[in-house]
Amino acid sequence: MNLRDRPRRLRTDGVRPLVSETRLDATDLIAPVFVDATTDERVPIETMPGHERVPVDEAVARVEEIRETGVEAVMLFGIPNAKDEYGSRAWAEDGVVQEATRRVKAETDTYVITDVCLCEYTSHGHCGLVEPEAEENPRLTVQNDETLELLSKTAVSHADAGADMVAPSAMADGMVRAIREGLDESGFSDVPIMSYAAKYESAFYGPFRDAADGAPAFGDRRHYQMDPANAREAMREVKLDVEEGADVLMVKPALPYLDIVRDVREAFDHPVAAYNVSGEYAMLHAAADKGWLNLEETAVESLLSIKRAGADLILTYFAEDVAESL
Ligand code: PBG
Repeated sequence: MNLRDRPRRLRTDGVRPLVSETRLDATDLIAPVFVDATTDERVPIETMPGHERVPVDEAVARVEEIRETGVEAVMLFGIPNAKDEYGSRAWAEDGVVQEATRRVKAETDTYVITDVCLCEYTSHGHCGLVEPEAEENPRLTVQNDETLELLSKTAVSHADAGADMVAPSAMADGMVRAIREGLDESGFSDVPIMSYAAKYESAFYGPFRDAADGAPAFGDRRHYQMDPANAREAMREVKLDVEEGADVLMVKPALPYLDIVRDVREAFDHPVAAYNVSGEYAMLHAAADKGWLNLEETAVESLLSIKRAGADLILTYFAEDVAESL
């Protein structure tokens, strides 16, 4: 054979690392943490092996475990001690995320990002206010404009507790603008917003909804989260969030939406985040349990692929395990 081009020349052990295009780093990873005000001990999350809901008293210890692996940032989710139709524990000064944030900021050196949404806090499990007749009439949806102020109040209360960054995930139109205005008016113009800009109505969130107790009591999230069939619409969503002042643009889920990660990367100069969601985590664990896949290798390959597609930062339940293996 007279082959001049032989890509295999660059695949030997010595040269492979030299020509490697993508590298995973512990500092790219954000570890989600579930803080639960309804318990005083750690509760394993059955659908997400290795993850637990921790009481506020254990939040610092949990974050310290994460920090030991080299991961420097966490995303806090809260399970409140009470829910109502407005989700009012979401912006309570003594709310679960606010308390946990205060302690983690006081006692550890960790970058704290908070999830800003109402679904864990509302009795109906939707991400905002719903019309009173919504349960009977599935065509009715979350009241967009009425929800904005509540999301803004929630974000401000997180910043007030010391959150370094807020991450709105409610998919309400105008939420980034409302939150940016709220933060600026309250003296938090330095607190960045990582917007869940292209968030799809995905079946891959199943395990999380158990973990955070945030499944909708009726109906679904199709009225506000994006249709998995749409890619161009993601660009509209992201563009709006950029215009409204988002600092970091998130695509969620990650692996089934790598085309969107790539599109956003190419069209915008902002940092791009991808959320490797609960279902992406659970399916690798389930297959590994059966002996069908190697967990560590598939986890690393997943995160590498997300980065290769264009993500700068990755939210992942594999953060600790992968950081330790690097
Ligand atoms: C909503 C929220 C969800 C997730 C993160 N924030 C659930 C939803 O939209 O139903 C899912 C994350 C995951 O599946 O890992 N506040």
